[in-house]
Amino acid sequence: MKRALALLAFLLGWLVLGATPASAHVEVLSSTPGDGARLSAAPSLVSVTLSENIGIQPGSIKVVDLEGHQVDSGPVFQPGDVAEQVGVRLKPGLPDGSYLVEYAFVSADSHPVRGTFAFVVGTGPLVTSAGAVSAATGTDAAVDAVSTAVRWLAYVGVVLLGGLAFLVLCRPAGRTDRRARRLLRWGAGLVAATTVATFVLQGPYAAGRNLEAVFDTGLLADTLRVAYGKLLLLRLAAVAAFALLLPRLLRRDLPDRLRSRYENLAMVTGFLVLLTFSATGHPVTDPIMFVSVTADLVHFGAIAVWTGGLAQLALCLHRPADGEDLPAVATRFSRLAAGCVTAIALSGAVLALRIMPSLETLWTTKFGPLVLLKIAGLAVLLAVASRSRRAVRRGLAGSSSASGDTAVVTADVRKLRLAVGAEVLLSAVVLALAALLTVTPPGG
Ligand code: HEM
Repeated sequence: MKRALALLAFLLGWLVLGATPASAHVEVLSSTPGDGARLSAAPSLVSVTLSENIGIQPGSIKVVDLEGHQVDSGPVFQPGDVAEQVGVRLKPGLPDGSYLVEYAFVSADSHPVRGTFAFVVGTGPLVTSAGAVSAATGTDAAVDAVSTAVRWLAYVGVVLLGGLAFLVLCRPAGRTDRRARRLLRWGAGLVAATTVATFVLQGPYAAGRNLEAVFDTGLLADTLRVAYGKLLLLRLAAVAAFALLLPRLLRRDLPDRLRSRYENLAMVTGFLVLLTFSATGHPVTDPIMFVSVTADLVHFGAIAVWTGGLAQLALCLHRPADGEDLPAVATRFSRLAAGCVTAIALSGAVLALRIMPSLETLWTTKFGPLVLLKIAGLAVLLAVASRSRRAVRRGLAGSSSASGDTAVVTADVRKLRLAVGAEVLLSAVVLALAALLTVTPPGG
């Protein structure tokens, strides 16, 4: 407990002293013609320079005249050799008049940025443009709420999959436990279902449309074309492979040679599932992407192993297998959990340092307080965890039913059950905070 509190104090200090400037969602830095420009002749091309390279997103720039007729021709392309610059050609021989450029880009962190700017050819009036409309203001509230809920369920699914580490490292006897295996299958099902839901929701989310547009084939095609859509398909394939591996890996009579092969394959597919989260969120907006993406992988991986293990431990404490040595299981997990908590706190601090634009973010935006709430959530989790550890240290006196009588439940086992149950619920709350955090613009 002292070590954990010292670590938390160190993290807060580091957070306060070390904050570095960070990036936000993609921004339009400049455009040609500029917003409000008055030209003597119609341009052949409209281009915008962005704050990050988002690749070519078809249909992301449209140019219309005052009657609303589209006057751009051909696909969005990269006019020069600057990766951050995209453009669209205009039809030849455009008459004098005002033109409005509408753009809708999906940032590398999957958040949409939409807006307009205007120019006029000749002496006519200039239409007013709405300027940039950030993700925070332009998204349908119902789509936003459902997307955040789906993201939380996806986190719960990943955490349940993380329970596999508990079975492999702490409770080998649990491999054949039907309920422990069912929890893993639920995890795989939840990740698969939320991935499909995230895919169909991304289109309306990026286009600012409502829930009725979830099956709009044009929007589904747009999502498939951007990196985010492809990473969601990778997540689906990885979780399907993981689910296929599970029954083989958990077989009782598996030869050691095959066991280590399946365990390695499970780790690879698990890593891929995590990567499809880390490579689609705020970490990718970090100028040194490797640092934040790695920190996020460590953060989410350690969370999955720790809280997935807590869920499996809660299950095992409720109905241990015959002759199961509960103190040994709990002691093994306690060691694993200590390592995970250290990794979570360190990687969380690095993520906050890299993603938050400045120290003031902690109290001037919605993002900062969510980070502080998560730190508080971890502190409460650690306080509850210390109760569990005390029960484990007392060795769950008399709980190991050497006689095979599983009915022997001591006060310590009850305390441990309560504490672990509370930890599982608290983790679910912190995961909800994380879902809110990852859809909140760091810069406010
Ligand atoms: C010292 C405590 C912690 C700090 C400073 C912290 C900070 C952060 C930060 C800055 C992010 C990135 C947010 C973004 O991408 O916008 C993050 C992501 C996340 N955190 Fe934490 N966190 C902490 C503890 C926890 C705990 C205890 C849990 C769960 C029990 C948790 C669950 C998550 C999850 C699921 C993500 C999202 C990962 C993803 O989508 O890739 N965090 N955290």
